[in-house]
Amino acid sequence: MIKLLTFFCVFTLFGLSNADIQANKLFELINSKSSRNSHVTNTWNVSEEAANEFSPAYIAPQDGLAQLDKIVALPGQPAGVNINQYSGYATVNPNAGRALFYYFVESPSDSSTKPLVLWLNGGPGCSSMIGAMSELGPFRINSDGKTLFINDYAWSNVANMLFLESPAGVGFSYSNTSSDYDHASDKNTADDSYVFLVNWLERFPQYKTRDFYITGESYAGHYVPELAYTILLNNKKTNQSIINIKGIAIGNAWVDDETSLRGLYDHWWTHGLISDATHDAIFKYCDFASGSLSALCHNIRDKAMDEMGNIDVYNIYAPICLTPKQRNTSAIPGSIYNFDPCSDYIMEFYLNDPMVQKTLHVKPTSWDLCSHVLTTWNDHQVTILPIIKHLIEKGQRLWVFSGDVDARVPVTSSRYSINSLNLPVETAWRPWYLNKEVGGYLEAYKGLLLITVRGAGHTVPSYQPQRALALFSSFLGGILPPSS
Ligand SMILES: *[C@@H]1O[C@H](CO)[C@@H](O)[C@H](O)[C@H]1NC(C)=O
Ligand SMILES: *[C@@H]1O[C@H](CO)[C@@H](O)[C@H](O)[C@H]1NC(C)=O
Ligand SMILES: *[C@@H]1O[C@H](CO)[C@@H](O)[C@H](O)[C@H]1NC(C)=O
Ligand SMILES: *[C@@H]1O[C@H](CO)[C@@H](O)[C@H](O)[C@H]1NC(C)=O
Repeated sequence: MIKLLTFFCVFTLFGLSNADIQANKLFELINSKSSRNSHVTNTWNVSEEAANEFSPAYIAPQDGLAQLDKIVALPGQPAGVNINQYSGYATVNPNAGRALFYYFVESPSDSSTKPLVLWLNGGPGCSSMIGAMSELGPFRINSDGKTLFINDYAWSNVANMLFLESPAGVGFSYSNTSSDYDHASDKNTADDSYVFLVNWLERFPQYKTRDFYITGESYAGHYVPELAYTILLNNKKTNQSIINIKGIAIGNAWVDDETSLRGLYDHWWTHGLISDATHDAIFKYCDFASGSLSALCHNIRDKAMDEMGNIDVYNIYAPICLTPKQRNTSAIPGSIYNFDPCSDYIMEFYLNDPMVQKTLHVKPTSWDLCSHVLTTWNDHQVTILPIIKHLIEKGQRLWVFSGDVDARVPVTSSRYSINSLNLPVETAWRPWYLNKEVGGYLEAYKGLLLITVRGAGHTVPSYQPQRALALFSSFLGGILPPSS
């Protein structure tokens, strides 16, 4: 508990926006779990036999709802933009009155030949509208908090992009049964997201047989593989490709507690953020394998936080948001190459505008980046590597990408996690290029690609939009980005 508060304070005291953002939710979770010394049960049963217990998903009639969800134009949207956008709720449990919110952007050209891609942000408990409005969506919000500018590198250039806020209690997604908020978990999130998808495909039946991919970042390193697993299991149970899933891509993704924690402190040390003595002490006194961290270990990790100081841990070289509550309302339109460190506040301002909420077809809601109604997380998995192995066995395309200046879920954590799978190497470590510059590095393993994005923070498309789009296009094409 002490450690949990420390993590929180370090980031709130300095007036950073970071206290709210997704990966801090993850650290609260990891720290609260380890300080309670609780044993985490594995609710995921990665076995073929699990397919025997079958109960069909709830499906409601969806006729005509797509047209009602159509967005004419978002408030502040630049004139003359011609894209099809939709948003609204889909009920996932009629008895509880539980509904999930989505925002869908059709590719402006040849949408019928392009795949359907789901994007999920992490937390747990953070909104995928973070991805839509500050990472890879068709628009970003200007510093005035009211007007939008075009993202030339929107992922909707190459795919039909679906953003889902899950579970209920996150963003605009809600339940009329408030006790649902006490049962938030990896498992319930995957189950509700699955029911959402089945209903969404009824609402937009032209996408039913489309190639489908799931992408996401941070704690979506859990959500994405778990949902992919759930989809495959249900396809098997029903003996049909109800959802035509082909692969997943996860960025700066938390997939395994032990290797990720080791990778975290090695990254901090090798990037000159903490002292030799503190690094040594962490590895001497913290037993990351056991999942229960001693008081001594907590103290040293606090020391590491103090030594690091007031930097943006999501991009250690980026400016921080110093005057978060003072938006510059006369600011010139933003640039896609210049990520506003106060984006979180700008997003909260925009998405809480009653006109914006009306346009998005939601009931009046106090929208947060990360949920304040979900207070417990019930089944965090210490590792999802077994699910990753399962997806590899099932022939799913699996890309693990990483912005290499993120110090929250850093590239070292991803490397240690992947190394522990002991997969054979198919393409040795090499640079990949975009516009004659190194976009990052990659190493292809049998069944899985590790790929970095040079100069990108935790939210990769926010900081390196062009490289992120190049990576995403390569992923969809199933080809490695160029070696020169
Ligand atoms: C996993 O599935 C197997 C086979 O159906 C079953 O025997 C076992 O009890 C399940 N384990 C859990 C934890 O549900
Ligand atoms: C929740 O309750 C409100 C008010 O009764 C109702 O309008 C809404 O449809 C309910 N939501 C769901 C998902 O059933
Ligand atoms: C599954 O589908 C295939 C092809 O449609 C069919 O041949 C097979 O009998 C089905 N199996 C079951 C268990 O329904
Ligand atoms: C606000 O933006 C304008 C236009 O870019 C700029 O001239 C001004 O210095 C900014 N004000 C502050 C307080 O940053």
